Amino acid sequence: MDASSDTIPRALLDWYDAHARDLPWRARPGAPATDPYRVWLSEVMLQQTTVAAVKDYFALFTRRWPSVEALAVAADEDVMAAWAGLGYYARARNLLACAREVAARGGRFPDTEAGLRALPGLGAYTAAAVAAIAFGRRAVVVDANVERVVARLYAIDAPLPGARALIRAKADAITPDARGGDFAQAMMDLGATVCTSRAPRCLLCPLSAHCRARATGEPGRFPVKAPRQAKPERRGRAFWIERDACVWLVRRPGRGMLGGMRALPDDGWSARGDGSGEGPLAGPWESAGKVGHVFTHFSLELHLAVYLGGQCASLVPGDGEWWPLERLEEAGLPTLFAKAARLALAGTGELA
Ligand code: ADE
Repeated sequence: MDASSDTIPRALLDWYDAHARDLPWRARPGAPATDPYRVWLSEVMLQQTTVAAVKDYFALFTRRWPSVEALAVAADEDVMAAWAGLGYYARARNLLACAREVAARGGRFPDTEAGLRALPGLGAYTAAAVAAIAFGRRAVVVDANVERVVARLYAIDAPLPGARALIRAKADAITPDARGGDFAQAMMDLGATVCTSRAPRCLLCPLSAHCRARATGEPGRFPVKAPRQAKPERRGRAFWIERDACVWLVRRPGRGMLGGMRALPDDGWSARGDGSGEGPLAGPWESAGKVGHVFTHFSLELHLAVYLGGQCASLVPGDGEWWPLERLEEAGLPTLFAKAARLALAGTGELA
């Protein structure tokens, strides 16, 4: 970092000392870092997910599994069920793989960015964030909030995602050697509370005097984004089969969409194409409406079919399980199937 760029981190850290958000996984500004387990867990949960959505899950996980060793010996299905509703389920599978690897090494997380990067599920962002926040390392931590702050500070005209390398270089240039964790979290807080994507609150910003986007009079124009590709719209069916106050649930294959999660049986829809329409039984089926769900790369219209026949003998344990309706909340259905289940239980209708 050159001397002239020292004013930006200093102004930002002063602002953070007064305005840091009080978050459950966080140390107070200037205080020693909290447990690396809590930092790592929070950062995995916060990937593509808002602070508001994460808070309850973080509380539940840390109560139930207070250490990395405790999480390492948890049953896969318990962790997948506890993650239900948070989305991006590959994170939960990697979380367990990572906990087991760290526990096998004696329960200590590596304390460098490179060491962290080698663990399952830790990409460039998470390794940098944990190195900075848990171990006070100097690391360049760039998430979507930081990207926006930096793109505005330097009025970067090149569109995202192509501008990422330039944004990273600019973030590197203003990252101080000390207080790595506070600096990273200060940038995130500024992006989340002041330098917001719509209607930035420049009057409250500690960096406004340095901000080139503000000088243009149109800070909201940054970051410039390449036009989005329209999402493909897919169609599929899910099947509700009820017997003796139980519903038939399957477990999705370990890899791929919603991998490892409990689910209603479906007809094989995916990002690449519509489902076949075929159910796990011959029928008869009655239509019970549809639910909509938007995934990262496609949107899905899922039609729910309710089984009206009495021939369930071909459904054998191992392929799935009869799950008591009165305990359906505990099945850990991902949001899409939880919506479909609500539809089935409410009678016909539409839920988005
Ligand atoms: N988003 C991702 N990590 C965060 C953190 N540590 N604090 C606030 N927002 C975040």
